[in-house]
Amino acid sequence: MTQRNHQTDTEQHFFDFAAEAGLTKHFGGLEATDELVELCRIGEASYVLDVGCGVGQTPCYIAKRYGCRVVGVDINEGMIERSRETAEREGVADKTEFKVADAQDMPFVDETFDEVITESVTVFPEDKRRAVREYARVTRPGGYIGLNEATWLKTPPPPEIIAWVSQDLGACVKPLTSDEWVGLLEDAGLTGIVVNVREVRPRREAKGLVRRYGYWGMLRSLYRAASLYLRSPAYRRFVNEVRKEGITPDNLEEYLGYGLFVGRKE
Ligand SMILES: C[S@@+](CC[C@H](N)C(=O)[O-])C[C@H]1O[C@@H](n2cnc3c(N)ncnc32)[C@H](O)[C@@H]1O
Repeated sequence: MTQRNHQTDTEQHFFDFAAEAGLTKHFGGLEATDELVELCRIGEASYVLDVGCGVGQTPCYIAKRYGCRVVGVDINEGMIERSRETAEREGVADKTEFKVADAQDMPFVDETFDEVITESVTVFPEDKRRAVREYARVTRPGGYIGLNEATWLKTPPPPEIIAWVSQDLGACVKPLTSDEWVGLLEDAGLTGIVVNVREVRPRREAKGLVRRYGYWGMLRSLYRAASLYLRSPAYRRFVNEVRKEGITPDNLEEYLGYGLFVGRKE
C-alpha cells in the first residue's frame, strides 16, 4: 500500500492544493504552538519531530525561536518541498530536515527524538491509535509528546456540524472528544497527561493566520492560489464545491474546539 492510500481523494486534493498555495494551519496559531513547546519542555538542546508539518511553518518557527533542531514529516510530497523552501527563506536550513512519511508508520528507529509534536494532523489518519503509538515509539524515555487537535466540546454534534468538519471543509477532519484523545495517549503508555481544551473562534483564527505567515506570506499564498485557480480546472471545481457546501454553521463554536494533549513517555 502506498502512503497516498491512507488519504481519501478529496483529502489528497485538498492537501495538494494547500501545498501549492503554500499555506496550512492549525487551531490556535502561534500562541498554541508556544504553549505546546512550553508544555513539552522544548529547549535549545531538544531534537524535535513535528509530524504532519504542512508547509514547514512550525519546524522553522521553533528552530528559529527556541534554537532546537527539528525534523518535519508529512505524507504529502508537495508539503515537504514547500517546507524546504520555508527553511531556506527563514535561514534555518541547517537546523531543520524534512521527509515524506505517514504518521502511522515512520522511518525512524525507536527513541530517536526528545519530543514529538503534532498540530491538526492526528485527526486525519485512519488508525489514530497506531499513529499515537508511533509517536511514543520514536520518543526517548522521559521525553514529551504533545498534540494540538480538533476536539468535540459537546456530543453528539448535530448533522450539519459533522458534515461541515468531515466533508464541506474540504478535508475529512475527524475530531475526538477530550476523553478519547486522553485515552489514545494512555494507550501509548504516556503518563502525567495535561489537557487544555479551548473553543474555536473564527475571527481570532483569521488574525492568528496573518500573525503566523505575516502580510507578505499571506499575499504570496493568495497569489499562488489565484494562479492555481486560473490554470487548474480541478482546483476551480474543488473551490466551487467547498464554497457551495462549506458555509460555516452558526452553532460551530458550541461544538467544535481544539485541545492541547501532552504526556510523558516513561
Ligand atoms: C491541517 S494541516 C496542518 C499542517 C501543520 N501541522 C500546520 O500546523 O500548519 C494537516 C497536515 O497533515 C498532513 N497529513 C495528513 N495525514 C497525514 C498522515 N497520515 N501522516 C503524515 N501527515 C499527514 C497533511 O498532508 C497536512 O500537511
